[in-house]
Amino acid sequence: MPAPANNIRTIAISTGGGDCPGLNAVIRAAVKSAILQYGWTVLGIQDGFDGLIWPEKCRKLELTDVSGILPRGGTILGTTNRGDPFKYKVMVDGREVVQDLSEQIIGNAHRLGIDAIIVIGGDGTQKIALDLFQRGVNVVGVPKTIDNDLSATEVTFGFDTALHTATDAIDKIHTTAESHHRTMVVEVMGRDVGWIALEAGIAGGAHVILIPEVPFTIQKVCEIIEKRTAQGKRFTIVVVAEGVKVPADLREVYGQERRAIPRSGTVGNLIGDALGMRLKREVRVTVLGHIQRGGSPSPFDRILSTRFGVAAVDLIARGEFGKMVCLRQARIQSVDIAEAVGKLKTVDPNGDMVHTARATGVSFGD
Ligand code: F6P
Repeated sequence: MPAPANNIRTIAISTGGGDCPGLNAVIRAAVKSAILQYGWTVLGIQDGFDGLIWPEKCRKLELTDVSGILPRGGTILGTTNRGDPFKYKVMVDGREVVQDLSEQIIGNAHRLGIDAIIVIGGDGTQKIALDLFQRGVNVVGVPKTIDNDLSATEVTFGFDTALHTATDAIDKIHTTAESHHRTMVVEVMGRDVGWIALEAGIAGGAHVILIPEVPFTIQKVCEIIEKRTAQGKRFTIVVVAEGVKVPADLREVYGQERRAIPRSGTVGNLIGDALGMRLKREVRVTVLGHIQRGGSPSPFDRILSTRFGVAAVDLIARGEFGKMVCLRQARIQSVDIAEAVGKLKTVDPNGDMVHTARATGVSFGD
């Protein structure tokens, strides 16, 4: 057993933000590695950082607790995307009040004997991890999101599985669209970026891909559909990322250029309706929504999650706190969390992936 480089006895694991396939695989790898390699005690923090506000929600994770969870979606620890302890929303006298509970959670972490915390989460959760690190907590980060929009890592786990789900859906939409000679709009996730739409669109043979990084118009999408009709192609698949902005030629109806969608489903329906009205033909809309966040992780995601979990434990053993594991040039590396947060990895409209799509006849509605 390699000797720990510091005085670690007990570590804790927390999952924050939206769930994604592969979280359990990270937890399993970290628990196994911490116990088998270093002989540490591992605590699971329930529901993001809420488990440190109410420490009775923390529980010891033994090897038996992680047995069989590798292929399971979700997170056995639970999660929340409303649990920033620095800006915690509580109800006081029927009014929502924002409180800073960071002292409380840091105190509870000390009382539980936690020497270091593995924080698994996306950009928002890693920002909280950084704030805790700056307050003296030993944290290491593990990046996750199906959106694949963290710039510090080439890929996040969860993305590959979401891509499989979205591609499978587009394949299925294809056959019904073709049979009914319809235009079908498929809305996929991607809060701010178009990675799922772009890659699932390419993999699923979409004819139009609409992403936040490429401004488009309804007029142009209509022209593409009419052109296909003139060529004898009686159906069209339009894949749209939920994060697209209102197209210029719908702004007089829907207003500002800001992101169109208060909740998923809005933008796909908005585009579907606009296409249907202008083309005067049947358009159907499918919103994949949270289906993309569920299910068993793909082999790629299981392996990446396992590598990240082990790497996070090794960072703790080396005393390298305030760092986040990442994948670069197919190798597991680490970066300062401070460097990693707040920088979105967006699709390059002039990059190879968009070029590949355009070269094979895909339109971006521009
Ligand atoms: O960031 C991951 C993600 O799934 C986005 O693609 C999506 O916009 C958002 O989370 C949905 O969040 P919620 O689960 O709060 O609806």
